[in-house]
Amino acid sequence: MAEATLRVFRGDSNSGQTVDYRVPVAPGMVVLDALHYIQGHLAPDLAVRWNCKAGKCGSCSAEVNGRPRLTCKTRIDDLPQDQPITVLPMKSFPRIKDLVTDVSWNYRVNRKIPPFEPRKGVEWKISQLDVDRVQEFRKCIECFLCHKKEQFAGPRFFVRVAGLEMHPLDGLNRAELLKDQLGLGYCNVTKCCTEVCPEEIRITDNAIIPLKERVVDEFYDPLTMLFRKIRGS
Ligand code: SF4
Ligand code: FES
Repeated sequence: MAEATLRVFRGDSNSGQTVDYRVPVAPGMVVLDALHYIQGHLAPDLAVRWNCKAGKCGSCSAEVNGRPRLTCKTRIDDLPQDQPITVLPMKSFPRIKDLVTDVSWNYRVNRKIPPFEPRKGVEWKISQLDVDRVQEFRKCIECFLCHKKEQFAGPRFFVRVAGLEMHPLDGLNRAELLKDQLGLGYCNVTKCCTEVCPEEIRITDNAIIPLKERVVDEFYDPLTMLFRKIRGS
């Protein structure tokens, strides 16, 4: 049977190193299968977070050969076999143990975002076009592959806010939150988030850029500023 070498990070928040494991490769095997083999046969104390093994829970994120990926959707036979496959914890979040990171920061950011609040006195009727637009953002599985280390809310939360802001029945305005607390202005639209999104959400084009336009309209458009001055608000 063919074998692959997995070079896996072992350690905790303070220190660690990679360790090589030889794993037999079966047809169709994914990186998460190889990690399970290591747990079952070579290193039972290897810490790995996973749940659905179907690309839907978002918990098996890791840096595979230097790229953020879902380990349950990354086939071994799609990776070069003549060199070790490196599996490291996500760089965006503090390490806890081996491949498991502390993602609690995301839940703190999430709490800052006011949820859907229906506009008063409107008919609950939505066009299919609006449904389709918002539906794309609802595909997010919160894998956080799109996140970088920068100190801003990050693409996943811009996707969440876009889903709320573009909902035709939502009555809140989150432009100030985006500008002052979520750091939307720090995104330099390089599209690296879009490239890694396993749900193929067009994060930059469909969420981030329209939100940037809203913030500009709200706070930097000269006509709006003049109108506000005239109204005295
Ligand atoms: S936007 Fe895509 S990459 Fe980012 S958390 Fe959601 S599913 Fe993952
Ligand atoms: S285990 Fe759920 S997305 Fe990979």
